[in-house]
Amino acid sequence: MTEQPPQPPLVMVLNGPNLNLLGSREPHIYGHDTLDDIAERLEAQAAALGLALDIRQSNHEGHIVDWLHEAGARGALAVLLNAGALTHTSIAIHDAIKGISVPVIEVHLSNPHAREEFRHTSFVARAAKGTISGFGARSYTLALDAAGALRQ
Ligand code: DQA
Repeated sequence: MTEQPPQPPLVMVLNGPNLNLLGSREPHIYGHDTLDDIAERLEAQAAALGLALDIRQSNHEGHIVDWLHEAGARGALAVLLNAGALTHTSIAIHDAIKGISVPVIEVHLSNPHAREEFRHTSFVARAAKGTISGFGARSYTLALDAAGALRQ
C-alpha cells in the first residue's frame, strides 16, 4: 500500500447570521471588507502556516451546530467562530462547542463589550478557548495565528 502524505491540520472558519452582508453592512462598525476578501487573506495565511481551511457562512443556527459537530468528527485543529448575533442568544451553539473536543476561538470584528448592553453576554465565550474581538477583519487573521499555535 502506498503511504498517503500527511494532511495539513484543518481549521474550520464558521460565520453566522448577516456576515454574508459584510462590506455593505454598517461599514462604520464592520468595515468595508467582504467575507470573500477576508477568506482570501485567510487562505494565503493558512498556506503560509501549513494549515487547511474550510470557510463557511450560514444565517441558520442549526447549520452552525451541525458544522461544529462536523469539526469534531473531522478532528479539526480548531474552529474560528463568529456566530454573529447568535453569540448572544444561542445555548445550542454553546452546548455544541462543549460537546466537541476541538478548541473554538470566538471571533468578532467589533468589540461587543463596547456596544449595546444586549451584546455583553456571550454564550460562545463561556465555552470557547478564547476570544479575539475589536480588530475588524484583522480579528480573523489574529485568530488564525492563535489556531496555528495550538499545534504541538
Ligand atoms: C459581530 C458582533 C455581534 O454582536 C453582531 O450581532 C454581529 C457581528 C462582530 O463580528 O462584531 O453580527 O459578531
